[in-house]
Amino acid sequence: MFLELFLGFLTFLSIWDFLYKRHRNKLFKNAGITGPNGLPLFGNVLKLINLNTETLFEFNKLMRRKYGKMWRLWFFNQERVFVQDPKFFESIFSSQHVISKNNSYSLLLPWLGDGLLLSTGSKWHARRKIFTPTFHFKILEQFVEIFDQNSAILVKTLYEKADGKTVIDIFPVVCLTALDIIAETAMGVKINAQINPDFPYAKAVTEVSQIVATRVIKGNQRYDISFMITAPHIAYRLKKQIALMHDFTDTVIKDRRVALEKSITDGSNIPIKMSDDVGVKKRMAFLDVLLQSTVDGKPLSNSDIREEVDTFMFEGHDTTTSGISHTCYLIARHPEIQQKLFDEIQEVIGDDKNKAITMKDLQELKYLDIVIKEGLRLYPPVPVIGRMTDSDVVIDGKWIPANTNITMLLYAALRDPDCFSNPDQFIPERFLNEKIDPFANVPFSAGPRNCIGQKFALLEMKSTISKLLRYFELLPLGEEVRPMQNLILRSASGINIGLRPRVYS
Ligand code: HEM
Repeated sequence: MFLELFLGFLTFLSIWDFLYKRHRNKLFKNAGITGPNGLPLFGNVLKLINLNTETLFEFNKLMRRKYGKMWRLWFFNQERVFVQDPKFFESIFSSQHVISKNNSYSLLLPWLGDGLLLSTGSKWHARRKIFTPTFHFKILEQFVEIFDQNSAILVKTLYEKADGKTVIDIFPVVCLTALDIIAETAMGVKINAQINPDFPYAKAVTEVSQIVATRVIKGNQRYDISFMITAPHIAYRLKKQIALMHDFTDTVIKDRRVALEKSITDGSNIPIKMSDDVGVKKRMAFLDVLLQSTVDGKPLSNSDIREEVDTFMFEGHDTTTSGISHTCYLIARHPEIQQKLFDEIQEVIGDDKNKAITMKDLQELKYLDIVIKEGLRLYPPVPVIGRMTDSDVVIDGKWIPANTNITMLLYAALRDPDCFSNPDQFIPERFLNEKIDPFANVPFSAGPRNCIGQKFALLEMKSTISKLLRYFELLPLGEEVRPMQNLILRSASGINIGLRPRVYS
């Protein structure tokens, strides 16, 4: 009896699955989007079974060659549309309607909660409005000193390895600097991660990113129940590391709350309320804004605050780490570009290595600007982003049905030969000489859901990279990078360089 019921249910499910996929495939075909045939119920899941976050890039290339710049896969009964077409990007980024994130982001919920990255609708609108002024130029200007002080600790840490022959994987070292920076600027708390190379939060971020990115690909890990049954050890590690990260962010919030209350009782450093014209004299940490904000007259709850702190701590350090590390890797392997950068640094800042950098100096480092742009193009720290259509929409003239999971392949688009000449080569000058479609070059995304920390990130990158170049010559040592799409762009072989103390002539 049980077997008969089960077989009956399976038959019903298979028929429903067949009809549903046939209907959706027809809609996609009309929109010019095709993909491989899949198995009943499973779709194309088995095609992905042997992939990992490194081989995914090759797979994307293969699919693009077969199906063009837009293609689809079936992940069980869920279709995923993959895009690397700037015209389609433009349509999505310009839309006020396609702003929800796709299903894969739900895997981040236990860690980041419904913070700015994941939230949607009125909650996202209200939060984005609160945070936008905290990234105003006048506020960022006050962070330049912190960028500089923390990069000074970075060069001090690296000095002992700067013998011209030691291979240094720069990612974990820069990661601690970036953590110190985001904690001190946005959260107003010193965490001294650089003094503790085994900083557990940083290790937890790396492990959780790897696990979550793998869950996006692997059919058996995608849903909680099958994840716990088929990979219990990994599920346990994930839970443990998320708890560790939450403990850490709870401490950050507690420390800042205490400091804030103390400053109010002392009258020493009363935080200034945000105003539209941002007439701020003192430093206004992002977390202070959260602790003081109200939505509909009510203060934000502890869990509201925690989800935003988790989001900004993560988005605000791993991304810049990836950007700084890959750009240094490229500079180390292009001595002529490194020389031009150093000439510019000498011209703008002079020969005194210890002189603190100013906002004016940073703004004058124009060649560094395009070097960083080119670094972010070749190695975008956020290699893919996703959107979900909440209703039927027309995107780039194509009718896309509601509930379509869209994955935008930024890494692929940023190396598209139709948009960039010699796309795999590091040519910063292309940003002066080539006419580049602004929607083909979107490492920070674009439109209403673009990166809120873009200016912060660029200043931090300029400050850190220029500091490294003032103290060291970057050398092309160690294995080449092997990109991995672990939420953030990382490298399976490390991001290797060598260092030699810089001699000023
Ligand atoms: C080079 C460094 C960075 C890159 C390349 C980068 C890139 C991106 C991209 C592509 C998105 C869109 C994500 C999506 O649609 O899923 C994004 C969103 C976001 N980024 Fe960044 N980011 C960087 C640095 C930062 C920093 C330093 C912060 C914070 C201080 C930050 C905070 C955020 C937040 C909160 C969002 C979500 C915004 C929203 O949905 O309204 N990012 N970033």
